[in-house]
Amino acid sequence: MHLKPVNPERLPELLRRMPKAELHIHIEGSLEPEMIFALAARNRVQLPYANVEALRRAYAFTDLQSFLDIYYAGASVLLEEADFYDMTRAYLRKAAADNVVHAEIFFDPQTHTARGVSMATILNGLHRACAEAPAEFGISASLILCFLRHLSEQDAFETLEQALPFRDQFIGVGLDSGEVGNPPEKFARVFARCRELGFRLVAHAGEEGPPAYVWTALDVLKVERIDHGVQASKDALLMQRLAKDRIALTVCPLSNLKLCVFPDLASHNLRELLDAGLVATVNSDDPAYFGGYMNENFTQTFAASSALGAQHAYALARNGFEASFVDASVMRRHVDRLDAMFDGFR
Ligand code: ADE
Ligand code: ZN
Repeated sequence: MHLKPVNPERLPELLRRMPKAELHIHIEGSLEPEMIFALAARNRVQLPYANVEALRRAYAFTDLQSFLDIYYAGASVLLEEADFYDMTRAYLRKAAADNVVHAEIFFDPQTHTARGVSMATILNGLHRACAEAPAEFGISASLILCFLRHLSEQDAFETLEQALPFRDQFIGVGLDSGEVGNPPEKFARVFARCRELGFRLVAHAGEEGPPAYVWTALDVLKVERIDHGVQASKDALLMQRLAKDRIALTVCPLSNLKLCVFPDLASHNLRELLDAGLVATVNSDDPAYFGGYMNENFTQTFAASSALGAQHAYALARNGFEASFVDASVMRRHVDRLDAMFDGFR
């Protein structure tokens, strides 16, 4: 793809207008404070915050765990199928407005089943919103079930059993929650079983945890993508491996900023990852908590670094489609549309 020069002043417009895939979004992390309070009222759930403003004031995170404590509390308002449906629909509407044309959405069933919500309630609500999204918002969406790594492998196996009657409603499994002290290899057997069952495999690794966790996510869990993975730049051999095998990293710049993985966006290593030949992508992670959906992640990251230009925008968008789990023919169509958009950008 030959790229015409783009006036830096028009870069934000290019970033907003280009078609994108989002591969790293926790649907529970799309719950805006207003919706948390609306669902709490609807379901008569008591929240430990007086109002929306008080909740928003609590969004001052120092690390991953300080965020997860509030994130799990926020998810406690989700009880009925309609709640899961409404949350997912609200996300898909916002994503489509950012020109996201395909999303692969994480969900954390253990957060809900532990409160007595059934897998059927969760998946029927999430899946219905995803199934309606192409006609309603012009965006395709699929679901990835994430195991909570602070819980046991036995708990993950039980969750998989509960989900198997709905196996046509999600395409893959992932691993999230508190990383340090919960290495990928803790889940070796459940991921091996998911692989046998034909699920796509991803895992959070190298967000706060060491490069060793990225190695074991690849070599023990045999994942196809690494979620975050930004700590990989501390290990030159790992960087070579990720580049050689074209393992995508689903990078989330505003998340990394808000969870203090980098002191500021100007220090983020996104450009370094791209320069090393890695298949890096940009994603929002938990947009309601980290101050922005896809377009904010792109525009704020590019605004913070004059080293990022139109060719990086193109590479990131293209990587998103190439790292997605859509069929090859669908991927080709998305890349063709991306090329046409860049060609026509004046
Ligand atoms: N769950 C939701 N967001 C997460 C993140 N950034 N890391 C790990 N687990 C998560
Ligand atoms: Zn995440």
